[in-house]
Amino acid sequence: MVYQATASAPVNIACIKYWGKRDTKLILPTNSSLSVTLSQDHLRSTTTSRADPSFSKDRLWLNGKEEEIVAPGRLATCIAELKKMRKELVEDKDASAPKLSTFPVHIASYNNFPTAAGLASSASGFAALVSSLAALYALPCSPSTLSLIARQGSGSACRSLFGGYVAWEQGVLDDGSDSLAVEVAPRSHWPEMHALICVVSDDKKGTSSTSGMQRTVQTSELLQHRIKHVVPKRMKEIEAAIKAKDFDAFAKVTMADSNQFHAVALDTEPPIFYMNDVSRSIIALIVEYNRVAIEKTGKRKAAYTYDAGPNAVIYTLQENVKEIVELIVKYFPQKDGFKDPFQLFAGEGGVGE
Ligand code: PMV
Repeated sequence: MVYQATASAPVNIACIKYWGKRDTKLILPTNSSLSVTLSQDHLRSTTTSRADPSFSKDRLWLNGKEEEIVAPGRLATCIAELKKMRKELVEDKDASAPKLSTFPVHIASYNNFPTAAGLASSASGFAALVSSLAALYALPCSPSTLSLIARQGSGSACRSLFGGYVAWEQGVLDDGSDSLAVEVAPRSHWPEMHALICVVSDDKKGTSSTSGMQRTVQTSELLQHRIKHVVPKRMKEIEAAIKAKDFDAFAKVTMADSNQFHAVALDTEPPIFYMNDVSRSIIALIVEYNRVAIEKTGKRKAAYTYDAGPNAVIYTLQENVKEIVELIVKYFPQKDGFKDPFQLFAGEGGVGE
C-alpha cells in the first residue's frame, strides 16, 4: 500500500500587511492582516508527501534540493503538529486506521517561480506542505484549523489555505488558538479583480522577513502607532470595500498600507530598504495614472503594493489590465524587448483558473 498525497497552493499578496510578531515561536502577529490569494498557475507551490515505515527519518526536498529538518524548527514543528492531529483525530478514534503518524515522511516541494524573492514563496510553500500532509493523513479539519499549523511555518502561509479574500485575525490568546485565517469573500465574489505581478528583480531578498520583523518590533516607534491606531481601522475599511466591490476604497487603503509598511521598515534601526528605484518609478506611474482617472471619473483605477522585496503587485479591474500592461511596457522597456508583454506578468484573475 502506498500512502501518498499531492497538494498545491498559490501565493497570496497582502493588502493590509503583517509585519511584527508578538510570539516568535508560535508566530503570533502584532496586527491582523488581509490578502488576496492569486488564482492562476503562475505562482504556486506543489507538494507531494509520502509516509512509509521503511523510511529512516522525515526528509524534505525543495526544488530538488534537500533541506534539513531540524527540531524545533518550523518545518519540524508543522510536521509534528500534523502527525499529532493524525493520531488524535483519526488513529485514536478508529483502531483500523493505518498508524501513519508513526511512519517517517518524505516530502518533495516545487515552486514554479523564484524562491525568497519577495514573491511570498514561503506562504505558498508552507500552505502546500500542510495541505499535502492533511490530505495524506485524511484529517477531518477546516482550512481555518489547518491555517493554525501553516501559520507556524510562515505567518503569511495561513492565508494561502483559502482562495479569494482572506483575513488573518491576530487573536488574543497566548496559545495562538484564535490566531487563524478566515475567508472574507470567495474569489467568485469579485471576478473582475486582477493582480499584475511586475518582477523587478528575482534575486534573493537582502533582509529576511523574520529578521526584519524582529528588528522593527525592537526599534520602531512607528510600528507601535501602526498596531494600535492604524491597522484596526484599515481592516474594517478594506473588508467593507471588498464586500461592496468598491475598487476606489480598496485601492486607497491598499496603497496607504504598502506605504506604511515600507515606512516602518525605514523606521527600523538600522533601516531596511525593500524597494529600489524601479519600484519607486512604478509607484510614480500608478500615482499619475490614478491622478488622470480621478480627474475624469473621481475614482482610482489601480493600486500598487510591495512586500519584503522590490517587486510590484498592481491590483486593477479587468477593464484596465491591457492599458496598464501597455503603460508598463512603454515606460519600462527591456533590453531585448518583450516578445509578449504578458510574459512580464502573471495576470491573475479574480475567478477562473
Ligand atoms: O510570513 P512571512 O514571514 O514571509 O512575512 C510576510 C510579510 C509580508 O509579506 C511583507 C506581508 C504579508 O502580510 O504578507
